[in-house]
Amino acid sequence: MDGSDSDDLDHLFSETVRETKGGSVYGAWRSIRDADAVPLSFGFPYPESFPNDELVSAAESLFEYEGDCALQYGGGEYADALPEVIADRARDRGIDCTTSQLHLTNGATNAIDTVCQTFLDPGDTVFVESPTFMGALRLFRNYGVDIEGCEMDADGLDVGALADELAAREAAGEPLPKLLYTIPNFHNPTGVTLSEGRRRRLLELAETYDFVVLEDDPYGQLRYDGSEPPPIRALDRTGRAIRANTFSKTVAPGVRTGWIIAEESFVEQFERINAGGEPSYTRGLIARYAEDGRLERAIEELCAGYRERRDRMMESLTERMPAGTTWSDPDGGFFVWVEFPEGVDAEAMLPDAIDEGVTYLPGSFFYADDGGTRHARLSFSHASPAEIDEGVAALAAAVRAETPPVEADD
Ligand SMILES: Cc1ncc(COP(=O)(O)O)c(C=O)c1O
Repeated sequence: MDGSDSDDLDHLFSETVRETKGGSVYGAWRSIRDADAVPLSFGFPYPESFPNDELVSAAESLFEYEGDCALQYGGGEYADALPEVIADRARDRGIDCTTSQLHLTNGATNAIDTVCQTFLDPGDTVFVESPTFMGALRLFRNYGVDIEGCEMDADGLDVGALADELAAREAAGEPLPKLLYTIPNFHNPTGVTLSEGRRRRLLELAETYDFVVLEDDPYGQLRYDGSEPPPIRALDRTGRAIRANTFSKTVAPGVRTGWIIAEESFVEQFERINAGGEPSYTRGLIARYAEDGRLERAIEELCAGYRERRDRMMESLTERMPAGTTWSDPDGGFFVWVEFPEGVDAEAMLPDAIDEGVTYLPGSFFYADDGGTRHARLSFSHASPAEIDEGVAALAAAVRAETPPVEADD
């Protein structure tokens, strides 16, 4: 059938799809990816970080050990072992976790979606950090909820401002959130980390105002300086904290394997909702790969590779950016959040920046409403250190072209 007739079938879409249909498609900015320019846009791991050879040998030994079971529904012993591998690693980070408090997903994106399915009804209110991960915004929009941005600063989510907002809403009889989504470590896109005191205060607020906290932590293990505050889930005493995580940044995004750690009664619902079909082969492969401390060693190497890239980006920004530009100083993760001088519109500047030889993501992509026009997210994860320097030089040239120097008075 000719695609042009398909508009006549729009009435068959769900109400939410009809309402969100015109929204941007994830990856609509793929053209940026193909641009002949240094990629500081997407949070892709650098290709040499992928453990290709180790995954091939893990696959070979998986088949040797399990034979056809490795590919059967449900998989074999190694696929069965992955939950314990994950629970064990979570316990190392202070999270009291058994496999009955664990639900495997196809990446963190699927974990967030599963939590949305379980907790959200159309018209509910979801609080997010402002700015926040654009992929999460896209998912929340699919559920017909009201998305409200919460202020952030250099210590992450501003829980004082959050407490005021919650109290004001309660006093005015306005809707309180059902769920608050946070990226506590090396936040996407700002790179900042939520302090321990704020994590504790956030949990108190969740109890007082009765909402769940979804802690999304893909970057926590990629720390290059300082020490880790306890995960929110590790501090939780009321069961309201739900933790999403993924192997996308520590093994590779293509393995599409993530997980949720939460109360057993929540996990029962996640299992029920997602019943029917798991990539058991991939799970077996990861469990085999992770054996004998190999994942820990790989994470150490990743940290060395990303630390070098982060350092180069910070040096280049300091050396090259025109006065009036500021940026965050991440201790880990993939991202630096840049604020350009007054008068620069990051989205409008992007085509010129691509001509200069760099791509980035405009800050406005990361807001539930208006915001971020003067900001950009730079990712140091994908390019090589030398390319990062080139990319920052190109960005500095684009910013200079937007902000001509003020003529001195005669
Ligand atoms: C905060 C955050 N959550 C989730 C994801 C997606 O993770 P996954 O590849 O496991 O779906 C990303 C990746 O960019 C991210 O930055």
